[in-house]
Order: sequence, then C-alpha cells, then structure tokens
Amino acid sequence: RTADRSATDIPVSQYACQRRTTLNNRNNLFTNALKILAENAEFCENEGRNLAFARASSILKSLPYRVTKMDDLQGIPSLGEHSKKVIKEILEDGNCGEVEKLIQNERYQTLKRFTSIFGVGVKTADKWYREGLRTLHELKASKIKLTKEQEAGLLYYEDLIVPVTMAEADSIRKIVEEAVHRFLPAAVVKLTGGFRRGKESGHDVDLLITHQDEGKEQGLLHQVINWMAVQGMILYDDITDNRDQKWKTKEPELFDHFAKCYLIFKLQKDMVNVVDLNTSGDHDSLAVNEAKEMGLGGQAGTCEHAGCASVKDKDWKAIRVDLVVAPFSQYAYALLGWTGSRLFERDLRRYAKHFKHMSLSSHSLFDNEQKRFLMAATEEEIFAHLGLDYIPPQERNA
Ligand code: CTP
Ligand code: MN
Ligand code: MN
Ligand code: MN
Repeated sequence: RTADRSATDIPVSQYACQRRTTLNNRNNLFTNALKILAENAEFCENEGRNLAFARASSILKSLPYRVTKMDDLQGIPSLGEHSKKVIKEILEDGNCGEVEKLIQNERYQTLKRFTSIFGVGVKTADKWYREGLRTLHELKASKIKLTKEQEAGLLYYEDLIVPVTMAEADSIRKIVEEAVHRFLPAAVVKLTGGFRRGKESGHDVDLLITHQDEGKEQGLLHQVINWMAVQGMILYDDITDNRDQKWKTKEPELFDHFAKCYLIFKLQKDMVNVVDLNTSGDHDSLAVNEAKEMGLGGQAGTCEHAGCASVKDKDWKAIRVDLVVAPFSQYAYALLGWTGSRLFERDLRRYAKHFKHMSLSSHSLFDNEQKRFLMAATEEEIFAHLGLDYIPPQERNA
C-alpha cells in the first residue's frame, strides 16, 4: 500500500469505536500540537474546545498514512477549522505559532506543573496560580492546606512523574495477585488500562479483580489492602467502598460504583525484571525530559523538604496503582470500561446511545427500547450487542 491516500479509501468514522487505532501513530507532529491545545482548553475549563481538539488528534492517530498535504484530509470528519489551521501551519512551517506561544505561557506551564501532582485537578491548580504560586517549592513553602492525597502526591512526586514500565506493571500485577490469592485462590487479577492496549509505559497500573462465584469478592479489597499495608507495600491508599454510595453524587456516565482503591504502591526495585528497570523507551520519556526542563522535576538533592531528600539511591519506587473489584456478571463491562482509551470509551457510549438507544457503562448495557439489561460474558459479546465490529485492545488507542 502506498503512503498516499486515494479517493477509493473506505470512509473514516467520526466514532473512535468504529476506527482501529494502533500505537503506530504516523501523525505525531500534528497530534502532539493538538494535544497541547486540548490540554490548554482543559486548563481553561472549556470542555467543548477540549473535546474538539482531542477528537481531531484522535482521528489523525487512526489514519494509516502520514498527512503530507491538506488534500489528504478530504472527507475526514471531526476536523474543525481551528484544527485544520494548525495542521496547515505545521505542514507549511514545521510548527504552529499558537502552540509554540502556549508552551512558553506562564499559566499553561504552571497549570501543567500543578496538575501533574497526584490529587490536583484543574480547579485547584488554577486557584494556586491565581494566588501567585508558580513552582512546587513555592507551593511547599506556602501555608496552603493540602489534602492527604495531595500531600502524598508531593511527597512522591519525583517517582510518580517517571513513567511506569511494562516490567514494573507486570511485577505489581503478580504481587497483587499473590496477595489476592491469600484470601481467594481462584480470583483473577487482570492488567487493564494502557498496558492492556499494548503501551510499553504508562502513568499508573490499572488492575481489575473478579471471582467466578459472584459474592465471594465482597470484602476482598479491604483484606488485600490491609495485608499489603502490613507488608509495607502501601505508601498511600484511598478505598472507595461500593457500600458508601459516594458514586451517587458523581456523573453516572463517567464514574462507576465498583469497590476500588487508588493507591501509591511501594515497589522494591529487586522485584522487577532487571532488564527493563529505568527504561521507558517511548514518547513518555520525552514527557519526563520536558517536565524536567520545565522545572517540574529534578529538584531532588537540592531540596530541604523532608520528603524530597535522597530520592536518588533508594531501593524502591513509588507507583500509582488503581485496583478495581467487579462482580463476575459485570466483569466484561468492567474490562471494556477500564481498558480505554478514554476517548474510545466515550465514543462507545455515544455510539450506543445515538444508534442503538442503549446506555453503556462499566457495569452494564441497558436497552432503552426493550427495557432490559443485556448480559455479556466477553467484550466480543458487548461489541455484538452494539452491532459493532470487534476492536481488540491494541486497536483502541484512540
Ligand atoms: N477509568 C474509569 N474510572 C476512573 C478512572 C479511569 O473508568 N475513575 C477508566 C478510563 O476510562 C480509562 C481506563 O480506566 O479508559 C484507564 O484509565 P487511565 O489509567 O487514566 O488511563 P490509561 O489509558 O491507562 O493511560 P495511562 O498509561 O496514562 O495510565
Ligand atoms: Mn492507566
Ligand atoms: Mn488508572
Ligand atoms: Mn522539595
């Protein structure tokens, strides 16, 4: 197949769940720029603009050819005038003025820095910015009241901004599996999120736990966390019990009500396959370098702050882990929901609602016409319910 696009090509769907998006992105030059614009829109709490740039970026990722001229974009949906202008400028000049200006912008830089702290969202970062804070040191020196989560985020900052490798994710999966099996020997611990989509590095480790005999998984999360805490494996944990009903106040489409735990795991480095230690191999390592250049990291050693001292020669690494427990009858939906990517999930739900009059969540699929839930034991069955071709995890990198 030639690198050129021809008019005979099959049309590209505006829905990410009808596209096959591998990690082989031929349009990095454009998607990197669009990602920064999407991020900035998020910092401005402009959801519509954020989604528009995210969609434009996603559609370019799915193209099996590199865009070399504006004609290559004929008939491609989800590209607004603004995104097209950005692409055109990059084709002509090699970069986009708006993006170049933005990465030098103090507010953009500061919000990126603050939101890279675990537990800090756009609203908090923006508040700190408006209070005049710019760096992590200024934040630490200020008397601002931090949540427990943010304190942990700052304490382990240097580790948490380093991408998690596949080898580390696999070690943690095995350690968690061992802990889970102490209480439920037949339980399954599945690696989901970006690693299941084939990524070689990520910002965290997503693990989904279930057991064939529904009901047996009740109480499991507390047992596992308690045991791991006694072993000294837990640096921070935040358990959300499905009984405490916290989820009811949240957006039902975006938040599920599984028992889950957001934690910071203490991984002993000798537990990891030595081959892969300290390597991250792909674009994510660029993000870290960029972060360091921007003064996000690299402050260890010179810092007086207790938690920042001597991070260099310790024999462990702090790693973000999400643990989710799903009842067996909902497992396929939970697996689909936790595999991502976020945009892929968003479009699956949008597709289900618009074309099938169905409501999809990480728990179930409800047919609003038949007024009943559709059962599924596998992801393949869910795609079939939706009348979609099955897309394997490696092709969900939308
Ligand atoms: N997810 C979710 N509910 C949350 C958090 C995440 O359903 N409270 C889902 C997201 O929809 C996503 C998946 O879990 O599809 C993984 O989320 P996340 O870890 O944030 O992203 P990854 O794709 O794994 O990317 P990364 O490598 O950065 O971790
Ligand atoms: Mn993840
Ligand atoms: Mn996650
Ligand atoms: Mn410090």
